Amino acid sequence: MDLTGLPPSSWGYRVDSPDLDALSDALDIAGITCDGLTEQDGVSTAWFSTRPDPSATPPMPLDGRWEEVPTTDWSESWKDGLDPITVGALTILPPWLAPDGPQLDQPPYRIVIEPGMAFGTGHHETTTAVLRAMQDVELADRRVADIGTGTGVLALAAIALGAREVIAVDVDELAITVATENIATHGTTDRIDLRVGSCEAVDGTADLVIANIITDKLLAIAVDLVALVAPGGTLLCSGVAVDRSDEARSVFADAGMEPLVTPGREWSVLVARRPVEGR
Ligand SMILES: C[S@@+](CC[C@H](N)C(=O)[O-])C[C@H]1O[C@@H](n2cnc3c(N)ncnc32)[C@H](O)[C@@H]1O
Repeated sequence: MDLTGLPPSSWGYRVDSPDLDALSDALDIAGITCDGLTEQDGVSTAWFSTRPDPSATPPMPLDGRWEEVPTTDWSESWKDGLDPITVGALTILPPWLAPDGPQLDQPPYRIVIEPGMAFGTGHHETTTAVLRAMQDVELADRRVADIGTGTGVLALAAIALGAREVIAVDVDELAITVATENIATHGTTDRIDLRVGSCEAVDGTADLVIANIITDKLLAIAVDLVALVAPGGTLLCSGVAVDRSDEARSVFADAGMEPLVTPGREWSVLVARRPVEGR
């Protein structure tokens, strides 16, 4: 490995729990972006190339401790947690495990995501659930809106599954920068329109609207999400904590949908079809 240009050490924020999802979600809620997450021997670690300045960063969530680790160790442990993940016809993998690059033309599809500063390597249960549910929706020649695109992984999956075009948005500018690079790597720049913002940045409606966004933020934009779904189209949401499934069902029902909520291990996925007018 070429370590030229890397800092001599990295910082790990270590939490004594094997629950990597809990650490990931807590950082997301606190608005803190790390470079990567790993779990080993019952300890979850969020990695940072430099230790965040406490005066410029929100307080670290959960009860953890900082540890400085030489870059060589960090590099290897970071990669250990990033095995390829296959969901149906889609495999998501990092560049060093994809010597032949991406493949979106025919199954099995390969989506190559460089782990970086945005959420969406495909490993999180919420992402996996959407990748699975998308494969039950007819996408050939359809328009898709991806709200909260992160790395762009779901937008790329939609193109692999036959979507004509995707509009993908994220409130985080850094996520759009990362997604722009990933979209270019896959040669799909002409079919995926990336914009900073949320539902208001999407023009028109879409046949499939995807949103993998943490529960509170998702429910806050429920009405806006529903408005983006074309008559006869489908809304697919992830990021609903299992214990808030009933609440999510009723919020989306109040917004005019008839959602089906399928609980997972910790997260539920919500699917709803928008009726065609007059039927
Ligand atoms: C859990 S990540 C999902 C990333 C990727 N779509 C995936 O499934 O792996 C949620 C993303 O939504 C973005 N986000 C949060 N609230 C949002 C909102 N109201 N509108 C658009 N994006 C939002 C975050 O910046 C983050 O990149």
